[in-house]
Amino acid sequence: MTAELVETIRTTIQPNDHPYMKDAWRPTYNEWNAIFANGDAEVIGTIPDDIDGVYVRTGENQIHEPIGRYHPFDGDGFIHAISFKGGRASYRSRFVRTKGFEAEKEAGRSLWAGLMEPPHKSTRHGWGAQEWLKDSSSTDVAIHAGKIISTFYQCGEAYRLDPFTLEQFGTESWVPLDGISAHCKVDLATGELMFFNYSKHAPYMHYGVVGADNRLKHYIPVPLAGPRLPHDMAFTENYTILNDMPLYWNEELLERKLHVVQFHPDEKTRFAIIPRHGQPEDIRWFEAEPTYTLHWLNAWEEGDEIILDGYYQEEPMPKSYPNAPEGLERMMAYLDQGLLKPRLHRWRFNLNTGKTTEQRLDDRDLEFGMFNHRYAGKPYRYAYSAIPEPGWFLFRGLVKHDLNAGTSEEYEFGPGRFGSEAPFAPRIDAKDEDDGYLVSFIADLETDTSECVLIDAKNVAAGPVCRIILPERICSGTHTVWASGDDIGMGKNSVLAA
Ligand SMILES: [Fe+2]
Repeated sequence: MTAELVETIRTTIQPNDHPYMKDAWRPTYNEWNAIFANGDAEVIGTIPDDIDGVYVRTGENQIHEPIGRYHPFDGDGFIHAISFKGGRASYRSRFVRTKGFEAEKEAGRSLWAGLMEPPHKSTRHGWGAQEWLKDSSSTDVAIHAGKIISTFYQCGEAYRLDPFTLEQFGTESWVPLDGISAHCKVDLATGELMFFNYSKHAPYMHYGVVGADNRLKHYIPVPLAGPRLPHDMAFTENYTILNDMPLYWNEELLERKLHVVQFHPDEKTRFAIIPRHGQPEDIRWFEAEPTYTLHWLNAWEEGDEIILDGYYQEEPMPKSYPNAPEGLERMMAYLDQGLLKPRLHRWRFNLNTGKTTEQRLDDRDLEFGMFNHRYAGKPYRYAYSAIPEPGWFLFRGLVKHDLNAGTSEEYEFGPGRFGSEAPFAPRIDAKDEDDGYLVSFIADLETDTSECVLIDAKNVAAGPVCRIILPERICSGTHTVWASGDDIGMGKNSVLAA
């Protein structure tokens, strides 16, 4: 390995015992460039030479001492990326230079309070649906028009970075006033990016499409009955699927500027199905059993039906977490996938009858699903879900489902080892849907190291075929994306290009 410490960001965090600031969630402040080749001491196994692309993972990595209570979703966006080409790997890590990052750097302290504190504790107005949070750009990453689009779950700006070098280009000019939510979606077949946003003012939601030329080409209101908290969306070849779920801020408390989430089990889940470039009058609403779904997998069209896979929470409003530190009981509960019980689930929307039918696909707690993105919006066979660590917002393994055969296989990372969402990286010239690798960053608490692992997607249970030890242990994170070199301009900016 050749490693270069590029910059160390100055932190003001005081020693503490916060459960999401230690162990796998311990923040780090060093920004690295590193190159790995086969034969290096840090490479266990062989770096495959049959993939060309980049794995990008974002996450919340708090820099400053928080104002009040800290929720891990408040943390500053920190992107880790590892690219592969010709049997070599290049790793880079950079904080997203958001407007909030720069303002707090100048102030030398936190200026915005987080999710668990009342808005008046923020020293200035913020971004997004809640309106007083810092847009940390810490939630999600997508690849569009050759660049990373980095986004925030409560809506905000879209920050743009080079996927290989992590060079930063500021914010996208096409983002509307209400911002964009995390989980915009890219159709590799057309190069279009679909997005939504939500807010506390009517019509409460919008939907938009950005062309492959990176220009906004479509933007419509999606009127809702009040402020809602959607997190993810899905698309098929011709339709976009948005949702209105019965988990949202308590309306009475909201009038007093208190943001308290409440589940309404007597209300239906609603899905908006919109032709990709459709108008508000084209929206068709479908009703389904009440739940909350944080993440969808894939969606596609089949005859008169649109089919959507995702993770149906059995307990969208869990009871308090046992033995949580005082004041963190609700936070700990909502982060515990073992309490939320998200189950792999299938919704079928019949465009002729207007009816929804539902089917449970697996009774295990699973979330953060990935699949081969070349099949996005189309029928697919293989899904790769993360296995939550009970009690925590951490993942201890992966499950591969063969959705046609109804079978699955598992791999666990091992004791004290927690992984990141693991997207599918297709092998160069792959013919099969599962011909490629799953890529993840692991935090190993026993050795206090982090590594990138590559798992043969045709043999998940066998575990990694290659492990690459990173320059230091990194903080756990949220979402990821794999971008093949040929999907981002043949990887011309790859730092590994010959
Ligand atoms: Fe998410």
